[in-house]
Amino acid sequence: MEQPTLTAREVPFRPSAEHEQWREEHPLKRVTLPTGLSSWLVLRQAEAQDIIGRTDSLSADTRAEGYPHLRQGKPTGDGTTQLVRMDPPVHTRYRRMFAPFFSAKRVQAWEPALEKIVDDAIDDLLAAGPPADFHERFALVVPSKAICMLLGVDYDLHHEFERLTKINTSSTVTAEERMAAVAELRQLMSDIIDDQRVSNAEGVIAKMVDLMDAGEITRDAAVANALLMVVAGHETTAHTISQGTIQMIQRPDLQRTITEHPEKLPALIEEMLRTQSITDNVIARAATAPIAVQDTTIEPGEGIIFLSSSINHDPRAFPNPLDIDLDRGRADHIGFGGGIHSCVGQSLARAELRAVFGTLFRRIPTLRLAADDDVEYQRDAFIFGMRRLPVQW
Ligand code: HEM
Repeated sequence: MEQPTLTAREVPFRPSAEHEQWREEHPLKRVTLPTGLSSWLVLRQAEAQDIIGRTDSLSADTRAEGYPHLRQGKPTGDGTTQLVRMDPPVHTRYRRMFAPFFSAKRVQAWEPALEKIVDDAIDDLLAAGPPADFHERFALVVPSKAICMLLGVDYDLHHEFERLTKINTSSTVTAEERMAAVAELRQLMSDIIDDQRVSNAEGVIAKMVDLMDAGEITRDAAVANALLMVVAGHETTAHTISQGTIQMIQRPDLQRTITEHPEKLPALIEEMLRTQSITDNVIARAATAPIAVQDTTIEPGEGIIFLSSSINHDPRAFPNPLDIDLDRGRADHIGFGGGIHSCVGQSLARAELRAVFGTLFRRIPTLRLAADDDVEYQRDAFIFGMRRLPVQW
């Protein structure tokens, strides 16, 4: 029987019409990926939360049999030396080492610095325009400076992080150019670790060096995971900032609500993460043991993709799913993944987003799109995000 292929969404903050239809038919669907491999898609929220929690039956290792690759060619990069590709017990050991970098106490201590990063970026945006490309001038700047702070390195490095991660995620560069950018970024992290070029002894680089000195991790693992934090924490947060700004511009009532009720800011951010679902087909696994879900069994060696946009718009869990509703209550979307690999940087990302959306429309209340036509989404990459967001005020 011929299987359908994986389609892209047509409208920014909504799953593709086809995925919505599949979700109404069944919680899981088998498809053929652009690579010709076949994979299960998980489409509903309750089943997604169930399956992603079955740690003993899943592998995040891209070399595992049946892993649902979306790009042709052999897996590249740092593979299983990166936290996101590790399986237990190795993952458990690394996660215990890295999770304290993002503890609630540390994130709380970062808040004043994040507010300053946001205020400075708003000053620079105001000086640059109007009009200005919000994505480049603001949305990419805030997370790259936040990552410098997390790593404990000089803020000036944020220009390099932006330049290299931009090439890495661009659709207009060749595969060679992309590989060269990743290699340059890896070399940069490697040099920073070797020189211990740190401005803050509490930063991740200093902690990685301590772990290396204590024999807990190799130098390669320190470089690979510092690199992972730059790559995983930069574009993701930038796209969420830009798309959240579009959502706020589309809903002036939300701007007023947040000004009058700042306590609703955390709920707004959860709703942005849920409705945007930027990491739409990023959360992928191979089954290593049978996984029975209702009348379907995922067999060992079969691929699984958790289709975030479909899951996060499942009306069974989120009534009127397209609406940003600040009174939904508990956050059980899959915007930060789930199970053992759920985003380790989520507390930092949330703090950045709170700093942005607690300030942006208060300081620039007339912020609006320069022209609808010029908003350019990134539709062909792993992450559903932005390329250009021209704004005026
Ligand atoms: C809005 C911003 C962000 C979004 C939407 C996001 C999303 C995600 C998702 C969906 C996963 C799970 C991947 C999987 O299960 O295969 C993940 C994992 C991860 N994220 Fe994030 N992320 C964000 C920000 C950050 C930040 C700021 C950092 C660090 C600086 C970070 C570092 C990581 C790391 C290291 C992992 C792997 C965790 C593990 O495997 O245990 N992310 N993220």
